[in-house]
Amino acid sequence: IRTMSELDINQQTVLIRQDLNVPIDEGQISSDARLRASLPTIKTALEKGAAVLLMSHLGRPTPGSPETKYSLQPVADYLSEALGQKVALISHYLDQRVALKSGQVALLENVRFNVGEVENDDILAKKYAALCDIFVMDAFGTAHRAQASTHGVAKYAKQVCAGPLLDGELKALGKALDNPARPMVAIVGGSKVSTKLTVLDSLSSKVDQLIVGGGIANTFIAAQGHNVGKSLVEMNLIDQAKALIKAAKDNGGDIPIPSDVLVGSQFSKDEPAITKSVDAVSDNDMIFDIGPNTVKVLTNILKNAGTIVWNGPLGVFEFDQFGEGTKAIAHAIAQSDAFSIAGGGDTLAAVDKYGIADKVSYISTGGGAFLEFLEGKTLPAVAILDRD
Ligand code: 3PG
Repeated sequence: IRTMSELDINQQTVLIRQDLNVPIDEGQISSDARLRASLPTIKTALEKGAAVLLMSHLGRPTPGSPETKYSLQPVADYLSEALGQKVALISHYLDQRVALKSGQVALLENVRFNVGEVENDDILAKKYAALCDIFVMDAFGTAHRAQASTHGVAKYAKQVCAGPLLDGELKALGKALDNPARPMVAIVGGSKVSTKLTVLDSLSSKVDQLIVGGGIANTFIAAQGHNVGKSLVEMNLIDQAKALIKAAKDNGGDIPIPSDVLVGSQFSKDEPAITKSVDAVSDNDMIFDIGPNTVKVLTNILKNAGTIVWNGPLGVFEFDQFGEGTKAIAHAIAQSDAFSIAGGGDTLAAVDKYGIADKVSYISTGGGAFLEFLEGKTLPAVAILDRD
């Protein structure tokens, strides 16, 4: 795959697909992490003398009926400010080439307003391709989607390449997964085993320690025959959890199951946290976090790790009394010398909450794409860049 740095983009119109899909609440951008990550690519392209057209999706609007709440206008305003030049938002771009000079930037309105975008329609893809001399794929966060602006366009553009953000993500994730410094530890938290089954499956045979947390850990706790009371649990996946434990063991690895937990009797921000041994959970309890002994065991594992991959919180960290497990893990990652990667929406919220952003070796901009990469899947929008 060629990268943007290998092409002469001076005086060329580059169409850069970015993932500018940020949370917007009543017109206000509530997390600009993805926007900050996109800036170096734009600046590099401008410095090299290109005319820069940006495109992205935002949310999941109904195709053909543009709603203001899905408009990229707040993003255009943000970019204007960050780049110190007006970034025009262009709504009509499918049937005419956008007039843009070298050194200028414009943003195309939400590609998911276009009928055929999500279906990866060829005619639409050709229209995108016709807008530029070079298509730059830089949207790691959307690289798992084979859509017209991520995949189809790359079939038809005159030249294609990977942008610096995508390239950096692939290198960092490759470093963590392909030839990791050992011991390799993965932390997979979150609410449901079902949404992370494939990633657990793929990691269980790769890593030395697979730490499970959140609702996922409950299913593993139940698989060991313990009562989990009213906790979030997937009883239908008990056998899968047992199989994962066995797969990890067969591979010389381990899935450490919490020995103690914090419980409450209802999901509420004022619910007091009670520490219990994992075999003392009663019918009325809900497990909301790992307990202090488990924290000790897990932080010790992290201390010795060579590589750490983190996706998903260990407990209900939005309530402080049930955030101690996630906080301790975050601090252990921050203090570790391991090459560490964190990714996923909730994980990044935890990284921010506990102030460890500059202590993690690499923070991925991907949510679903990050997971699919961990699952070992080929990302279609990356694979298509190999066409020449
Ligand atoms: C994401 O936020 O994970 C990406 O931007 C992809 O969005 P999507 O799940 O709506 O395709």
